Amino acid sequence: MTQAFIPFTKPTIDEATITAVADVLRSGWITSGPKVLEFEKALGDYFGGAMVRCFANGTATMKIALQLAGIGPGDEVITSPISWVATSNVILAVGAKPVFVDIDRQTRNIDLNKVAQAINKNTKAIMPVYLAGLPINIDALYTLAKQHSLRVIEDAAQALGSSWKGTRIGQNGKHDLVSFSFQANKNLTTIEGGCLVFNTERFGTEQVQLAEKLRLQGLVRSGPDGMEVDVLGGKDNLTDVNAVIGLHQLKQLDQFQQKRIELAKDYFLKIKQAGLVDQGLGLPIADFEQCNWHMFQVTLPLTQLQRSRSDIMSALKEHGIGTGVHYPIITGFELYRKLGYSPETTPIACEIGAAILTLPLFPSMSSHDIDRVVHALAKVLN
Ligand SMILES: Cc1ncc(COP(=O)(O)O)c(C=O)c1O
Repeated sequence: MTQAFIPFTKPTIDEATITAVADVLRSGWITSGPKVLEFEKALGDYFGGAMVRCFANGTATMKIALQLAGIGPGDEVITSPISWVATSNVILAVGAKPVFVDIDRQTRNIDLNKVAQAINKNTKAIMPVYLAGLPINIDALYTLAKQHSLRVIEDAAQALGSSWKGTRIGQNGKHDLVSFSFQANKNLTTIEGGCLVFNTERFGTEQVQLAEKLRLQGLVRSGPDGMEVDVLGGKDNLTDVNAVIGLHQLKQLDQFQQKRIELAKDYFLKIKQAGLVDQGLGLPIADFEQCNWHMFQVTLPLTQLQRSRSDIMSALKEHGIGTGVHYPIITGFELYRKLGYSPETTPIACEIGAAILTLPLFPSMSSHDIDRVVHALAKVLN
């Protein structure tokens, strides 16, 4: 009997969500409206009473965050070279310069110990990325930002539900601007979407109002017919159809995360039992307290195996196992090479970007599926 293909990820959408989407479609109001407001309120509650605004996707959310921080031409923003290219594309999009600092081999996130060396008079912000949802040291991040008077735009696209020392990433207090994505693969999806969490204690509500303008043509309405535009905004609003999906996903988020944690623990156990660690397979940090387990990523011992990652991915596919690459190093892309960047300046990121492999992990997977992935991996690597 052939077994079903296991993709590297799959959204969990229940019937109640599908009914709720149909209700919005029948309601006569399908773009940004009451469901977006409800979703923003629910997210605010999730983040302990913070102000939250939603956007069309995580990319737009991060771009608007950079604009709110006043980042533009002549400014430098420090970030990680191992991320979805959206992270640095938005820095370029506002006319600023991304500065890539190498990652830590174990966490695969930016190495905060190397950030200070990259700060100069043009540096305006740090944009850390929480790969696979694993947070960096938030205390050290904000100490560094304070020392150098830098803004922080957290690319928490993958980190919804992750925490640092018991406090959710995005929850009020320490954080500056925190950006999340609700793209199809994320732990909570709205198909496409994103949200920004503000620190109004520190920056007031002015930034919230500016964000609202920037996401919709710079528009401010007053009275029945009054309209004013005083800044250049885009078309980056979330729709009610997306928001109602988010409302239903949010109710299930904790349960999704518990399942992800269980599956991740299962991976650790079975990968070790299969002797794959002794064969050089690199495991992620086993953080079951703070990480939301957005992905389960291993690193392949490619030199030892004398095989390419592409070859291994194809062989796994033949065994019915889908995998992904998150991510190749950004500075290896032609656009970035043409701008003068090169992967060699961040050697650890260069190595990890070439060897990283995302194994299947999503809430509707079973322990039997984990067995299948690990058996296939063992067969292919031997
Ligand atoms: C780390 C990271 N940053 C930014 C983004 C961009 O988000 P979106 O695809 O919603 O625009 C994503 C998601 O794809 C991501 O994983």
